[in-house]
Amino acid sequence: MYTVRLLLSCLLFKEVISLSGSFWHITDLHWDPTYELNNDPELVCQSSDKRPAANAGKFGDYACDSPWLLINSSVYAMKDILPDPDFIVWTGDDTPHADLGEKVVLPIISNLTHIINQVFPNTKVYSALGNHDYHPKNQLPAGPNHIYSQTAEMWQEWLDPASQETFKKGGYYTEKLLNRTGFRMLVLNTNLYYDQNKQTQNMVDPAGQFTWADQVLTEAANNKEKVYIIGHVPPGFFEKKRSKPWFVPGFNKLYLDLIQRHHSVILGQFFGHHHTDSFRMFYNSDGSPISTMFLSPGVTPWKTSLPGVVDGANNPGIRVLEYDTQTLLVKDVVTYYLNLTRANAGGGRWEKEYRLTESFRVPDASPASMHQALNRIATDPCYLQKYYEYNSVNYDLTECNSDCRIDHVCAAREVDFDRYERCLVTEGAFAIYSGLLPVLSVAVSLVLANR
Ligand SMILES: *[C@@H]1O[C@H](CO)[C@@H](O)[C@H](O)[C@H]1NC(C)=O
Ligand SMILES: *[C@@H]1O[C@H](CO)[C@@H](O)[C@H](O)[C@H]1NC(C)=O
Ligand SMILES: *[C@@H]1O[C@H](CO)[C@@H](O)[C@H](O)[C@H]1NC(C)=O
Ligand SMILES: *[C@@H]1O[C@H](CO)[C@@H](O)[C@H](O)[C@H]1NC(C)=O
Ligand SMILES: [Zn+2]
Ligand SMILES: [Zn+2]
Repeated sequence: MYTVRLLLSCLLFKEVISLSGSFWHITDLHWDPTYELNNDPELVCQSSDKRPAANAGKFGDYACDSPWLLINSSVYAMKDILPDPDFIVWTGDDTPHADLGEKVVLPIISNLTHIINQVFPNTKVYSALGNHDYHPKNQLPAGPNHIYSQTAEMWQEWLDPASQETFKKGGYYTEKLLNRTGFRMLVLNTNLYYDQNKQTQNMVDPAGQFTWADQVLTEAANNKEKVYIIGHVPPGFFEKKRSKPWFVPGFNKLYLDLIQRHHSVILGQFFGHHHTDSFRMFYNSDGSPISTMFLSPGVTPWKTSLPGVVDGANNPGIRVLEYDTQTLLVKDVVTYYLNLTRANAGGGRWEKEYRLTESFRVPDASPASMHQALNRIATDPCYLQKYYEYNSVNYDLTECNSDCRIDHVCAAREVDFDRYERCLVTEGAFAIYSGLLPVLSVAVSLVLANR
């Protein structure tokens, strides 16, 4: 009897192990080849745009994009932490926040491709373009051009022949996930929807990507496939600046429609561009959570120059996603980071920052669990503060005040532009109400005490 039970539990254990997979998500490496230590802090890197790199060290500075040593360190840290991932998701932005001309774009993409290939020679990489992977930046065209086609050549080993073809036309592709029946990866070029992209603003469906994605997802449903979507620029709002969206309004709506129509086959969305660690919830018309977009922190520590954002830098971050290989359910998210200040001082090493299920006390990273985590963040100051510190990868440890709470909660909750604005109003009212609570309770106790 005992042996039978032991045997059974061993079998079950084996089953559990085989269901669990993991992959890396890295994004926004932004290599700045001009980074070089200099006595004049304004001259350390072109990406600082004359802002002084006051604490420049060999791993970088918060005013600058990544020096090569930081890129190298992050890729080798991946190898150290999880040497044999099922695959790697890489969501773009390779060149620095500086105009170094068109001639650097392909060489920079090439150097980054090379190091990832060299360190992970047998790993499949799914790779999306960022708004900085073109010159002039943000102006990614809705049709064939030499950057798409040469990048497709560079990524030959990672792309099926059919993927090569669509990538050369529009910078997007789809293939079976790891060539397995029933599983699919959809790699989007959402730079076509970026409001800074003058090439595509007035188009109905740039590069036919929405029509194509709709078809891919419809077929996926017919073939009972599960799908992951990856891309660079996310829909919705930036959580560090109130009412700052990225997409053209019409494209934002189309993206949201796409997810709402096809959510039953979409098991996860993985994007970058913010350089911060956050997530976006998608709900159906009756308010049930149907999908989550995970925004991974960037490798670059570059402090954003976006007007209105105060001290918007971050520590370099990389991320492991744990998932169920049979259902593609995202089971957990583990983020690793480098304390840049400490690394420059000589004591730095990549370390675990946090594990989602532990820090937010949820069973997994399903939409229902992420909805629960968001409710905790929205209503419990301890969870809000924890989320806020993770948001900048432990760079900004100041208190997230009530305006900050509103910005982060509404950005995570509402991808739709109108609903986001309404959220600001509702959450603002909630803030006044809860701000009054201590005053009210003092008043009540005074009244009671005077009876
Ligand atoms: C990259 O990192 C690895 C591992 O730490 C190290 O052995 C190698 O020398 C580094 N390469 C460069 C160019 O810094
Ligand atoms: C980038 O690639 C070029 C061409 O292969 C090579 O000469 C150069 O050393 C690489 N740079 C780095 C930092 O790896
Ligand atoms: C994918 O699987 C098919 C059979 O299902 C096989 O013919 C093909 O060679 C595989 N492709 C790769 C890149 O492994
Ligand atoms: C990062 O390192 C600096 C310097 O050692 C230290 O002051 C700071 O507290 C560290 N940050 C975190 C989040 O550990
Ligand atoms: Zn970026
Ligand atoms: Zn970007």
